[in-house]
Amino acid sequence: MTAAKYDVLGIGNAIFDILVQTDEGFLVRHGMTKGGMALIDEERAIAVYQSMGPATEMSGGSAANTIVGLANLGARAAYIGKVRDDQIGRLYTHDIRAAGVTFETKAAADGPATGCSYILVTPDGQRTMNTYLGAAQELTSADIDAAQVAASAFTYLEGYLWDPKNAKEAFVKAAAIAHGAGRQVALTLSDSFCVDRYRDEFLDLMRKGTIDLIFANEAELHSLYQTSDFDTALTQLREDTKLGIVTRSEKGCVVTSTDGVVAVPAFPIDRMVDTTGAGDLFAAGFLFGLVRGAGHENAGRLGALAAAEVIQHIGARPQASLKELAQQNGLPV
Ligand SMILES: Nc1ncnc2c1ncn2[C@@H]1O[C@H](COP(=O)(O)OP(=O)(O)OP(=O)(O)O)[C@@H](O)[C@H]1O
Ligand SMILES: [Mg+2]
Repeated sequence: MTAAKYDVLGIGNAIFDILVQTDEGFLVRHGMTKGGMALIDEERAIAVYQSMGPATEMSGGSAANTIVGLANLGARAAYIGKVRDDQIGRLYTHDIRAAGVTFETKAAADGPATGCSYILVTPDGQRTMNTYLGAAQELTSADIDAAQVAASAFTYLEGYLWDPKNAKEAFVKAAAIAHGAGRQVALTLSDSFCVDRYRDEFLDLMRKGTIDLIFANEAELHSLYQTSDFDTALTQLREDTKLGIVTRSEKGCVVTSTDGVVAVPAFPIDRMVDTTGAGDLFAAGFLFGLVRGAGHENAGRLGALAAAEVIQHIGARPQASLKELAQQNGLPV
């Protein structure tokens, strides 16, 4: 196996975030399920946007956030995702490249606009997402650069890729190339409703070994195994995957592997502002730990540190140097 050119390649829905702090009543009035990600059409997107207060806009997308976090930590990172060649698509492309990420996916010349997520942040810091996939729906297996996948130590895929119609083919192609080159494949389950839509397919990917390591939050884990009992779900996860990482908000995370089960506490925070990106940045820190050869405990600490930074401000992209934060806290970088 040749040395990897990239530490992690992320593949996901390229989405522009439009965030606003609001009250619980807004969610109720618009029939939104708090904490979830709902797919919306263009008409609903316009209606939600018109009723929102002044917003903060920035590039997002779950796997993209993770990849930007990895680059911020000092990893060699690349991303595949589809935008349209419109103004927001160009902004998106600029932002991810400026963060130090290699991003070469060809923008769509026609079809729907660059995808957007309308994110409502309630006073408790919880985020509720309404996503218009737009151009992300145009991602196909032709966008998977085989040489890039083969040159990446880890390929990181988001469960959300199961929503656009052609992206799952791209997902499966990338996983096959990665394994053919002796690399590792990671999946985040993304959202409990997403798991509900594709439960059998996700379980199949895990059991067939298409996925080597899996990230899930508690709700996604419970949805995957259709049980409200954490220990029952964790035991099943341990049987289904070599490495499973379950995040539990302020309770930190639990890592299950052939070596056993390790729990790592959350990193202390001063104030919870916006949970958007908590899971994404946790995955960035954890993967960074694996890239640097850290054990699961230190990888979990790096994940907790990166997540703690992102939840103390609006938006899912880091605002501080995670590398410096890790160094200050004696974690391997
Ligand atoms: N209140 C909190 N205090 C400290 N750390 C937290 C808190 N909430 C989340 N975190 C950190 O973020 C990680 C991921 O959080 P969580 O399990 O809520 O993921 P998530 O539900 O996928 O988040 P999101 O989808 O909103 O980005 C946790 O493992 C923890 O390290
Ligand atoms: Mg999440």
